[in-house]
Amino acid sequence: MNEIAVIGLGHVGLPTALSLAEIGWRVVGMDSAPDRVAMVADGQAPFYEPGLQELLTTHHRSGRLAVTASLAETVRRAEVLFVCVSTPQLPDGAADLSAVEHVAREIAAHTNGHKLVVDKSTTPVRTAERIKRVLSRYGAGAHQVEVAVNPEFLQEGNAVHDVLHPDRIVLGVESDRARALLTEIYRPLLDRLPAPGQCVVCDRRGISTAAGERVITTNLETAELIKHSANSFLATKISFINMIADLCEQTGADVTQVARGLGLDPRIGPQFLGAGVGFGGSCLPKDMRAFIRIADDHRVDFSLLKAVAAVNEGRVERVMEKLRGALWIIRGKTVAVLGLAFKPGTDDVREAPSLRLVPALLSEGAHVRLFDPHAMDTFAAAMPDLKQATYCRSAYDAAEGAHAVVVLTEWEEFRTLDLHRLRGTVALPIIVDGRNLLDPAAVRAAGFDYVSFGRP
Ligand code: UGA
Repeated sequence: MNEIAVIGLGHVGLPTALSLAEIGWRVVGMDSAPDRVAMVADGQAPFYEPGLQELLTTHHRSGRLAVTASLAETVRRAEVLFVCVSTPQLPDGAADLSAVEHVAREIAAHTNGHKLVVDKSTTPVRTAERIKRVLSRYGAGAHQVEVAVNPEFLQEGNAVHDVLHPDRIVLGVESDRARALLTEIYRPLLDRLPAPGQCVVCDRRGISTAAGERVITTNLETAELIKHSANSFLATKISFINMIADLCEQTGADVTQVARGLGLDPRIGPQFLGAGVGFGGSCLPKDMRAFIRIADDHRVDFSLLKAVAAVNEGRVERVMEKLRGALWIIRGKTVAVLGLAFKPGTDDVREAPSLRLVPALLSEGAHVRLFDPHAMDTFAAAMPDLKQATYCRSAYDAAEGAHAVVVLTEWEEFRTLDLHRLRGTVALPIIVDGRNLLDPAAVRAAGFDYVSFGRP
């Protein structure tokens, strides 16, 4: 096989491109943003993701990753083209597929032999069908350009690991040729996994599945639905446990123990039962809204997901209620916010709870002091008009003179804060823990009033 193309070098595309290089392929990465191309070509990761810079440095040297801003050149260089462009949200909740359509037109215009267009972007069911139509309308016949769907399940903050250790590989294909090409590409990954029939416990999610069973071959629509269903199901788990947390607060139960009791049932599993301020990020909230929209379009009443979204939207207000409960009046008080990223391990703030909590605090008249180990710049860029907030150098600096400290992201460095040192800097000893990150006994022993979610 000649080079493999990865179109779009964002949070999915760049880890994918580098992981393909890591398992031995020569890759041409393409992005329409010249700044991004220049950075990657220079060996600089354009965003923070653990292990990404190291992998980029390695393959900057190995020469296995080439980068370009030219889609035409990319199409000509490779037979297999992974499409990893963004699919942002339109005002009505649907996914904006204009970047996908643009790429399909360009592929049709510049194709020079057999091509396999592999949709890795999260797109609504039947998008592949539309890509096929665009390709043929703009001159690329089905005999020449085929379409496949190969959704990505990586989590930000763990992206490189997830691409190199997939818990499943879903191949939505329409021909043996497409299946063979994709299997060949992933073969080095599969070869690292234990053979079928071997007893294995291999990944961090505790899934014990042999290599052969991790590849699921389906039609295009099924592969598309697997991706959207997975994200919506994860979102459902989080909103479910958040409702349980609210019930725990009213009844004296402890949500962390309820979650443990639930999670030990292998049919439920322990992951994504962490209660708190709810889910953010560029995927779960947006994908769920797009899924609701698709269901509506197909006249399927998916009110379950509408409830999941509504529960999540109310979580930031639950933090505000807890702050009001602790402080009574917020106006004039200083609140330290620890954690701006939507989750640890990333500088990504898209749909992060911080984007709603900080303006809510300011509009109630609080002074706000902010700290995040990696997401200060991205937060400032996302909130350019936020003049009143103070950006701080550390968690301790943020807590200086604070009447309450709010934890919004479960960074490891917040879990291991020196609570006695923190106690020495605050004006009032109140912690509102939006992620149930801290140990209640330790926080109380350090002299704080501790407010968390669903724990007595
Ligand atoms: C999510 C999915 O987990 C990935 O499998 C998928 O590939 C990705 O979307 C995507 O579609 O690209 P990601 O957005 O990186 O990954 O973040 P998650 O780890 O799913 O976390 C999402 C949010 O849920 C975060 O704000 C996190 O703090 C929150 N969360 C997670 C909870 O509130 N409670 C939990 O128990 C777990």
